[in-house]
Amino acid sequence: MLKNKNIVLGVTGGIAAYKACDLVSRLVKAEANVDVIMTENATKFINPLTFQSLSSNQVIVDMFKEPKYWEIQHIALAKKADLVVVAPATANIIGKIANGIADDMLTTTVMATKAPVVFAPAMNCNMYENPILQSNIERLKALGYRFIEPGEGRLACGDVGIGKMAEPDVIESYINSMFERKKDFVGKTVIVTAGPTREAIDPVRYISNHSTGKMGYSIAYKAVDRGAKVYLISGPTSLKAPEGVQLIPVNSAREMHEKIMEHYDEADIVIMSAAVADYAPAITHQQKVKKSDEKLILELVKNPDILYELGKIKGDKILVGFAMETENLVENAKEKVSKKNLDFIVANDLFTEGAGFGTDTNVVKIIDKQGNVESLPKMAKLDLADLILDRIIKL
Ligand code: PMT
Repeated sequence: MLKNKNIVLGVTGGIAAYKACDLVSRLVKAEANVDVIMTENATKFINPLTFQSLSSNQVIVDMFKEPKYWEIQHIALAKKADLVVVAPATANIIGKIANGIADDMLTTTVMATKAPVVFAPAMNCNMYENPILQSNIERLKALGYRFIEPGEGRLACGDVGIGKMAEPDVIESYINSMFERKKDFVGKTVIVTAGPTREAIDPVRYISNHSTGKMGYSIAYKAVDRGAKVYLISGPTSLKAPEGVQLIPVNSAREMHEKIMEHYDEADIVIMSAAVADYAPAITHQQKVKKSDEKLILELVKNPDILYELGKIKGDKILVGFAMETENLVENAKEKVSKKNLDFIVANDLFTEGAGFGTDTNVVKIIDKQGNVESLPKMAKLDLADLILDRIIKL
């Protein structure tokens, strides 16, 4: 599983740094390529030569001292990494990264990487329980950073409590599970809709909403990663379509409906995360509407409710909707589940911090057709995408 994977291991200054030696040796045994970055403080606990010998790679401590192998090392390692692991992770490193501080090789690498980042915290129990640290952890978790919980017991300082770094074998199996790609959507065709729709008033203006497509693109990314054939039918966004999905760009709700219907027979699953306009201008002017009177009255006509139409011809397909509400979240979402004949709905409230349009996170309730409500904590949209796919597999 770990063969030829590039793992960057960040070691920070704590007594648990000695356990990182065992971790490196395990990862190397599993045929991963390990590059170790140490903070200055970590070198007070372990000599870099130890990691160099175990990993057979040069260990980097000072970002300015050793530009021998790469021109800009923090960028090179950040790009090369399939995974970055920080073990042990002190309160200091967690705090710095949570607050965007990049003042050494390790913090700049973590900041510059697009690879998943995992922290294995290790510190005194009072530091671990400190609300400042906990809120930094929560903040990072919400952005998609992962944490391997520390264990409880007698700590190096003599205190007893939580804060012992997870053992190297536990960290190794966590890393292994991250590379174990679920392929549970092989043979399934999924239509995902994303982004806003634009309802043209004239060639210059349109009616739309604040959707950025992040939620839908995250679902498409995860579905294709899990083996599905994915049609991503997307309103205008600035996002790049994930590799492997078939992107079908659309503008209006009617166009979105039409494109869905072209692929509906083939689909096993439809996930409607797009924010579709309920109304469109009755007339789309061919020329720019000129300013004249004080008032301009725009007549709107109802767009098709795509999901409602799909619900009428559901057959044995799985239909998942989203609900964006500003009040009575559960009540309104439940009504949509039954009216649109859905298997479940993912309901988000615009006024909840970290939820809804444009954020990298979402806070949702999943409501099924039996009326069961599952309340989920704030999580990265990518993680939520995986969870939605897990719920579909359960069905
Ligand atoms: O794109 P992001 O910036 O990441 O934001 C994500 C999101 C907020 C857009 C997403 O989480 C979300 O809530 N999407 C659904 C928004 C919405 O249109 O909700 P609604 O309650 O108005 O619609 C209910 C369901 O019916 C939705 O699945 C919608 O796609 C569908 N619908 C709505 C109107 C319509 N005419 N046809 C439809 O099919």
